[in-house]
Amino acid sequence: MESSLPIEVIPATNPVSPGRLADILAEPGFGQYFTDHMFAVEWTPADGWHNARVTPYAPLSLDPATAVLHYAQEIFEGLKAYRHADGSVWTFRPEENAARMQRSSKRLALPVLGVEDFVASVDALITVDERWVPEATGEKSLYVRPFMFASETFLGVRPAQHVTYLVIASPAGAYFSTGIHPVSIWLSEDYTRAGRGGMGAAKTGGNYASSLVAQQEAIAEGCDQVVFLDASERTYVEELGGMNLYFVYEDGTIVTPELSGTILEGITRDSIIELCGKLGHSVQERRVSIDEWRDGVSSGRITEVFACGTAAVVTPVGRLKWRGGEVGGDATGPVTSNVRSALVDIQYGRAEDAFGWMHRVV
Ligand SMILES: Cc1ncc(COP(=O)(O)O)c(C=O)c1O
Repeated sequence: MESSLPIEVIPATNPVSPGRLADILAEPGFGQYFTDHMFAVEWTPADGWHNARVTPYAPLSLDPATAVLHYAQEIFEGLKAYRHADGSVWTFRPEENAARMQRSSKRLALPVLGVEDFVASVDALITVDERWVPEATGEKSLYVRPFMFASETFLGVRPAQHVTYLVIASPAGAYFSTGIHPVSIWLSEDYTRAGRGGMGAAKTGGNYASSLVAQQEAIAEGCDQVVFLDASERTYVEELGGMNLYFVYEDGTIVTPELSGTILEGITRDSIIELCGKLGHSVQERRVSIDEWRDGVSSGRITEVFACGTAAVVTPVGRLKWRGGEVGGDATGPVTSNVRSALVDIQYGRAEDAFGWMHRVV
């Protein structure tokens, strides 16, 4: 179905110069530079979604009493646009991001944006700012960040009656600029990310705010990332602060923690389930206890651990550290490498898209 949202385009009068853009795209880093435009649309109960436009990228002016600043009624998404060797530009399963944003909307009592309207908003911004999509070399991409927030000026705890949805975009370099290195993981025993009935499955800022102190602890302990356990039993592995987890067993079986309502339903996670099935692995979604991880790595029953998400695609996990011990080494296993290449090759158009995952934008 086509989007029925009319989108006005108001071009930037002062876009970044070609020379400056070339410098930025040579070393974009992550989340540091933003394209010349942004997409915006407003919602009210009376008018629904209206006033959709691609406008020059600019700061927002918000009343200090804007509801989101106080009650955090906010959700977001993250996806990438990839340039293929023939110059065309594609996104990866954008309708899955749209569907997840709809689920987040429902959990945060925000209005639902149609899947077609979401995809049209992302396409509109990428099309106008196409020159910001880096060349295909070196795993660069344009990271796209759709988000929605309570923009009503009102103090009081109730769903906002004025909501704004924006899309911004930022060129991204290879996540691993010096090659793929395993990340080390700190086991958070004092903090949990989400409890049953909470917001763990929604992509909302509060989940990330609550993870920061645990991430700080991880860094103080010499680790790169933190892993959270379930909030009720403090036994089962949930996910990292911003990535889902996979375990590879010696018989080739691949296991990922089941969706319990408390972890984010990662689109990379879901794609790996399908991909690994095709690569001949048996894939299980089930609970994995922290002892199964520790003992499995020690005994050799678990041969590889990896994390996955849009930003880094697939990241090998090396050491797991906790108060009083650690297991794991520093090697990247063959299954992790294969899964990573298989996905990245589809995203950059180097392998056949047998699943119909890619969406052409330009
Ligand atoms: C908490 C969390 N888990 C998992 C993921 C991976 O999700 P996806 O594969 O859709 O990027 C993300 C990243 O968006 C995340 O923030």
